[in-house]
Amino acid sequence: MKKITIAANWKMYLDESGSIDFIEKLNAESDLFSNRDIILFPSHACIRSVKNHLKSDIKIGMQDCDMHEQGAYTGSTSIKAIDVASCIVGHSERRAIYKENNDIISEKLQRTLSSDIEPILCVGETLEQKNNQLTETVLDDQLSILSNKLSGKQLTIAYEPVWAIGSGDVPSNEYISEMLSYIKSRLKSLYSGADLDNIKLFYGGSVDASNINELLNVELIDGFLIGSASANFEKFRDIVKQIKL
Ligand code: PGA
Repeated sequence: MKKITIAANWKMYLDESGSIDFIEKLNAESDLFSNRDIILFPSHACIRSVKNHLKSDIKIGMQDCDMHEQGAYTGSTSIKAIDVASCIVGHSERRAIYKENNDIISEKLQRTLSSDIEPILCVGETLEQKNNQLTETVLDDQLSILSNKLSGKQLTIAYEPVWAIGSGDVPSNEYISEMLSYIKSRLKSLYSGADLDNIKLFYGGSVDASNINELLNVELIDGFLIGSASANFEKFRDIVKQIKL
């Protein structure tokens, strides 16, 4: 059985004391969390404290990084600033609120890969795009930053329909399967048929303890990118409990 990854995107939900409190509760139940593939994505400013308090081998990632490596970029954070295992790139909140386009996202992806940090590239359509039958066009466009050059690189694609994020509205398993199959077929052609063993597929959007069990039936899912439910320790624990080892 494959090991399901749980990626906890804390967004801007937890401040430093909230992050430490979460980690202390997690440490107290370390048996449940050990031997699992878990990545926590705290706010950049809290990564150091989280790492200092964490007593298990849980991985830590960045929610985003700057497209540049170093220099006069006030307020931004380089992928080189902190030692992390993974970095989220192209999250829909970055695309919509911070107006990140494919050029910027592609730079961030390259920056992450060249630092040997595993990116999680988020893709997904808005409700309007879905209603206008544009989902595949949108996915094609968002995936177009990948190419043959990247084949062999460790990479995760998180399919996160924008309409499912934070809405409680989770697509059916059939819909998710269809979209992940589509993404896989696009990757095959972008990578000129190279094998895709190094690419993982995640689902994200309103995942919580009430739906994870059902979502685990989607065969193509290698992991989940979880937002609000992952920033509350009790909710997070109830999700993790349902993932079989
Ligand atoms: P959500 O967010 O779980 O709160 O819907 C998911 C995400 O944005 O990655």
